[in-house]
Amino acid sequence: MSERITKDMAKNIYFGGGIFATLIFVGLTFDSVNQIPELSNEVNMTESVVLGKKIWEDNNCVGCHTLLGEGAYYAPELGNVFQRAGSSNEEAFKGYMLGWMAAQPLDIPDRRKMPQFHLSPEQVNNLSDFLIWTSKVNTQEWPPNIQG
Ligand code: HEC
Repeated sequence: MSERITKDMAKNIYFGGGIFATLIFVGLTFDSVNQIPELSNEVNMTESVVLGKKIWEDNNCVGCHTLLGEGAYYAPELGNVFQRAGSSNEEAFKGYMLGWMAAQPLDIPDRRKMPQFHLSPEQVNNLSDFLIWTSKVNTQEWPPNIQG
């Protein structure tokens, strides 16, 4: 009996292995896509959250901040600012946001400045709702610490 792999055996390993790996890949892809509605927190997306996202975009907050890691690295990550600045309490966070947005730019030497956007209290409330919603997207423990 010969110990060599025949051409047929090699072909079977090549195609069999290829098909097996492809099936696993397709299966895992379906599994990930099926989990998106639950992970994304989309059921809690209110009209105010949508308005808040629009204000976020119109004012290019992402030009300085990251949100769940996407954006610029000039200013703090805001995906978990609800936990950091509001201790996960909605009233406390909304109060903090009104104060923070109104107080900009802070006159502190040697500290990066955030512009004044002249937003109305309703707009800041929408932004707060958007940031609260974002903080509840299941990112599987990301960012890894409260600083962002
Ligand atoms: C030009 C850059 C810039 C833009 C644009 C900007 N920010 Fe900021 N933001 C900063 C900087 C810098 C800080 C940190 C300031 C400090 O700590 O004194 C900050 C801090 C914050 C904080 C507090 C973060 C914390 O961890 O306590 C919030 C909330 C915030 N920004 C929201 C916004 C929102 C909402 C927008 C869009 C309407 C926005 N920022 C646009 C530069 C910017």
